[in-house]
Amino acid sequence: MDSIIHINYVSLILVFLISTVMATSIGINYGQIANNLPPPEKVVPLVKSMGATRVKLYDADPHVLKAFANSGVEFIVSLGNEYLSDMKDPAKAQAWVKTNVQAYLPATKITCIAVGNEVLTFNDTALSDNLLPAMENVYAALVSMNLDKQVSVTTAHSVAILETSYPPSSGAFRRDLVSCVTQVVDFHCKTGSPFLINAYPYFAYKADPKQVQLDFVLFQPNQGIVDPVTNLHYDNMLFAQIDAVHSALASIGYKNVCVQISETGWPSKGDADELGATPDNARKYNCNLIKLVSQKKGTPLKPNSNLNIYVFALFNENLKPGPMSERNYGLFKPDGTPSYPLGFAGINAGVSTNSSSGRSPATGSGSTTPTSWSPQDGSSSPGYMSITSNSGVVLFCWKSWILQLHIIVGSILLLFSQL
Ligand SMILES: *[C@@H]1O[C@H](CO)[C@@H](O)[C@H](O)[C@H]1NC(C)=O
Ligand SMILES: *[C@@H]1O[C@H](CO)[C@@H](O)[C@H](O)[C@H]1NC(C)=O
Repeated sequence: MDSIIHINYVSLILVFLISTVMATSIGINYGQIANNLPPPEKVVPLVKSMGATRVKLYDADPHVLKAFANSGVEFIVSLGNEYLSDMKDPAKAQAWVKTNVQAYLPATKITCIAVGNEVLTFNDTALSDNLLPAMENVYAALVSMNLDKQVSVTTAHSVAILETSYPPSSGAFRRDLVSCVTQVVDFHCKTGSPFLINAYPYFAYKADPKQVQLDFVLFQPNQGIVDPVTNLHYDNMLFAQIDAVHSALASIGYKNVCVQISETGWPSKGDADELGATPDNARKYNCNLIKLVSQKKGTPLKPNSNLNIYVFALFNENLKPGPMSERNYGLFKPDGTPSYPLGFAGINAGVSTNSSSGRSPATGSGSTTPTSWSPQDGSSSPGYMSITSNSGVVLFCWKSWILQLHIIVGSILLLFSQL
C-alpha cells in the first residue's frame, strides 16, 4: 500500500519535473537602438511580468547582463557583424568570450552566443567569409574555458537566405549561399547548436497585400493552404516559412536540423505605404503567436519540434533607421506601458511588489508559465501534464537535451534519497 502511494507520488513528481523542465515559454529580443529606454534594472521585472524566460541581446551590454544576474532569465548574447573580422584571431575571440560571457557566469545565465546577425544576406562576401571562422574561434574559446557544454554558438539568418519558399516543400537556399550555409550547418551538427531564423510574415504581407491573406499571416482562422507535394495543411505563414527552411536544409542533405526562430514580430505603426502596420494587427499577431507557443505547437512538417521563439521586440526603438515600422515593433513603449493591450500591466506593475494582479511570480527557475499573455483565451492549458507532446523533440539539439537530462536524473536521485 505504502509503496504504491510512493510510486504514484514519484510518477506525479516526475511528470511535474519533466513538464517543468520542458515547458515552452516565450523569448524576447531586447534591442536598444534608442535614447529613451528605461534602465535595465527596471526591465528585469517587466520581462518577468510577461512570463518571458529567455532574452536575446544584439550585443553583450554589461549593464543588462549585470542587472539580470540571479534572475533565472536565460540569455543569448550577440557578437555584432562589425567584430567578425576580429574573431579570425583566436586570441581576440578568447578575449571577447572572457570579457562578455565568462565574466557573467554563472550568475547571469548566458546559454548561447549569436555570432553576427543576418550576415549572409548582406551580400558582402568579405563579411560572409568571416562568419564560419568567427564561429569556430568563439567555440574554441568556450572549449578552452570549459564552457562549451553550457554555452552554444550559432548565428541568425534572415529568411531571405531562401530563394524559394512556396510551397514549403519546395524550399531552397539561394544558390550563391549554398556552400556557406552547408558549412555553417555542418558546424551546428558538430557542436549541437540550433539553426536560427528571423522570419517576418509581415514583410510578405507588406510587399503584396492584395495576394497575401491577412488572416493567414496573423494566425487568425482561415482556410489555409495545402502543400501539393506533402499534402500538409498550413493555416499560417510563419509555419510555412519555417517548413520551407526545413525543406531547404533537407535538400542539402540535412534532414533533422533543429530550426528555431530568433526573431518574429509585427509593427504597430508604419508609413502610409506600409499596409497592415496597426496596433490591432500587432496585437493579433503577437497574442496568437504566444498562444501557439503555450500550446507547444510545432510545424506541420515537424510537429514535435520546439521553436524556441523570440518575439521582436521588447521596446519600440526610436533611433532605428528605415521606414516608420522599424521603430514600432515593441510590445512596450519606452515608458514601460504596453504598445497595445497584451494582457499584462507594464513596467509600473512590474516594479511594484503588489502581487494581486495574478501575474506569474518570478521564480527564477527558468520555466515561468506566461499566465496572462492571451486574455481572450479561456481554454489555454493544453497538455500541461502530457509528456508525449514533448517526447519527440528533435535530437539535433542534443546539448540542451543533455543538460535537461542531467537536471531530471539529478532530481530523481534526490527524490529517491528522500523516500
Ligand atoms: C542580395 O542579393 C540578392 C540576390 O542576389 C538580392 O535579391 C537582394 O536584394 C540583395 N540584398 C541586398 C541587401 O542587397
Ligand atoms: C495592490 O493593488 C491593489 C489594487 O491596485 C491595492 O488595492 C492594494 O492596496 C495593493 N496592495 C499592496 C500591498 O500594495
